Amino acid sequence: ILVTAGPTQEPIDPVRYLTNHSSGKMGYAIAKVCSMRGAEVTLVSGKTAIKPPLFVDVVPVTTAREMYEAVTGRSDRQDIVIKAAAVADYRPKTISEQKVKKTDEELSIEMERTDDILKYLGEHKRANQFLCGFSMETEHMLENSRKKLKKKNLDMIVANNLKKQGAGFETDTNIVTMITQNEVFELELMSKEEVAFHLLDKILELRK
Ligand code: CTP
Repeated sequence: ILVTAGPTQEPIDPVRYLTNHSSGKMGYAIAKVCSMRGAEVTLVSGKTAIKPPLFVDVVPVTTAREMYEAVTGRSDRQDIVIKAAAVADYRPKTISEQKVKKTDEELSIEMERTDDILKYLGEHKRANQFLCGFSMETEHMLENSRKKLKKKNLDMIVANNLKKQGAGFETDTNIVTMITQNEVFELELMSKEEVAFHLLDKILELRK
């Protein structure tokens, strides 16, 4: 099983970068639970403050590009891929070699799209490979997540609403909805580790 976790960092200059609030907790919990239940697990992780789980092969990355290389270089050998990482959708078009100095003017940074790793995996899905994405929304959660499920050719998408208390980035708990093409399974508020157990149960049931 390949799991991705954490944020990506996109450099602006040698001092600064753009990132997001992902703590990596959800992805690390999934990697740990999969490993505890006997899977051989690779965890491709952006920078987090979490101690890597035991018996998991951790591949550290920083940028979306590095995550793309690490994941696509290994995806062929995976039975299940779970993409919990919060990957940047845009990165600065050029990275300044020197520190950008302030002026009295306003500053704009031109951005370009990063590669959509999950979309690539959906387009290159191997027979019997199970692909699970994550979707974080602040509104229209079901509708937007269903669109991602279809667009990226996923078997399941795990959605959460950032506005709900107990869900989201830095908490130890989550409230998720597991969505497949035909079904919707809502889980109550629970620890991220418990979410990981339910998630793996559902994936194994659907793979039968
Ligand atoms: N993802 C990815 N590569 C990217 C961006 C996202 O693999 N460059 C994956 C994430 O790991 C997650 C899922 O795609 O599993 C999230 O889907 P996405 O459509 O990118 O969600 P958002 O970035 O939240 O989309 P939007 O900004 O349109 O809400």
